[in-house]
Amino acid sequence: MTQDELKQLVAAAAIDLLPHGEIIGVGTGSTVNFFIDALAGIKQHIRGAVSSSERSTQRLRAHGIAVYDLNDVGQIPVYVDGADEIDPSGAMIKGGGGALTREKIIAEAAERFICIVDQSKLVQTLGQFPLPVEVVPMARELVARKLRDIGGEPRERTGYLTDNGNLILDVHGLRITQPREFETRVNQIPGVVTVGVFAHRGADTALIGTATGVERRDFV
Ligand code: 5RP
Repeated sequence: MTQDELKQLVAAAAIDLLPHGEIIGVGTGSTVNFFIDALAGIKQHIRGAVSSSERSTQRLRAHGIAVYDLNDVGQIPVYVDGADEIDPSGAMIKGGGGALTREKIIAEAAERFICIVDQSKLVQTLGQFPLPVEVVPMARELVARKLRDIGGEPRERTGYLTDNGNLILDVHGLRITQPREFETRVNQIPGVVTVGVFAHRGADTALIGTATGVERRDFV
């Protein structure tokens, strides 16, 4: 199976876990695009979606799925999103697609986070994928220095601004053995909007696309 076929497989599997008659939290990325396309097939069973990016919003609306403002919705039962890496505890690196801030907000508002990934995203230790950090533009150099102090090699994502008008620093060379502590530490740097480590609010369930089918892991 190709990587895209694995992504499609897990996206379809996530559909089976959705409650009916509810507003669903929707992430961003190529795996989520397959999920949105699958969601279109059952759109009569859901009330609509809360979206983590302008890209996902456009795709949802193109399928005729209503998109709500999170402020008008409050808590949502489930959030479905991909990841760049996921470790054995359900902690993730996210933000490869640049939508990490809205993703983290919706994840926090959700009772349940279902992570949909192909098997290439499974890691023992987070950090091989360059860690995205969303940064207020005037703090770029300050934050970059602090990230170097903790052992990373930050590189600005060139020609890119987030949906919130901020920069992304992609931090290479990290080995994140204690994701919760690391997330807290980077969050405390002034000018950091969001760090792409999702450990305090990690996944509750991962659906993993493998050559032999979808494997489910539940994290307590
Ligand atoms: C976007 C994300 C995505 O979930 C992550 O980058 C995985 O994307 P893909 O499904 O395309 O591999 O965090 O900000």
